[in-house]
Amino acid sequence: MKLGVTVELSRYDPGLIYAGQKQFDCEHAVINSFVHNSLKSQTKKNLSVAYVLTDPSQGDRFVGFYTIAQHMIDVSSLSALQLGSLPRKIPCSRLVMLGMDKNYKGRQLGSRLMKHALALTKSVSNQVGSFGMYLDADPMAVDFYQKLGFTLLVGDKSPDPSPMFIPLFRIAD
Ligand SMILES: CC(C)(COP(=O)(O)OP(=O)(O)OC[C@H]1O[C@@H](n2cnc3c(N)ncnc32)[C@H](O)[C@@H]1OP(=O)(O)O)[C@@H](O)C(=O)NCCC(=O)NCCS
Repeated sequence: MKLGVTVELSRYDPGLIYAGQKQFDCEHAVINSFVHNSLKSQTKKNLSVAYVLTDPSQGDRFVGFYTIAQHMIDVSSLSALQLGSLPRKIPCSRLVMLGMDKNYKGRQLGSRLMKHALALTKSVSNQVGSFGMYLDADPMAVDFYQKLGFTLLVGDKSPDPSPMFIPLFRIAD
């Protein structure tokens, strides 16, 4: 079993320089490139908000993150959940990107980021209508999201990407 690490979770500030952001490596090329080249500009424009994990023992190094935005999905994409009668367009939060640096994986830190994102989804729904959280999963991460309560919207197969959803009433307090 890997030893726990003490990391801090905070809202990403595009006006700051984060140690290690340009070297971030979660072993996923698209997500790495997003962190290196687009995270700062996207969050500056408020196209999404990011939350980061930093490691104080490594000079506050950037070791993990997620981005979240408002979203709208068509009710037909939720048919797998059998939720009864709903309007055609469903407002929700969307997890856009998530990644943990390869040296910090397997320590429940990805789960910690996701639990924060789910709590945020729930809290935002008190102010702006939202039915839950949507995401497009990498097929390799489908099991990870299922453990957190997400359902695959396309049956048992995992296409690339794999759309997934969790309704608000399934998000634990
Ligand atoms: C997916 C990712 C964020 C998980 O982060 P992590 O910190 O290693 O995950 P955790 O340690 O919190 O894992 C929580 C649980 O999920 C499991 N898990 C983690 N990654 C998994 C995966 N890819 N497939 C299946 N199970 C996985 C863990 O074994 C653990 O199970 P347990 O609670 O029974 O012990 C990380 O592997 C990553 O950055 N991957 C590359 C980028 C990526 O795929 N992002 C998602 C794109 S949609």
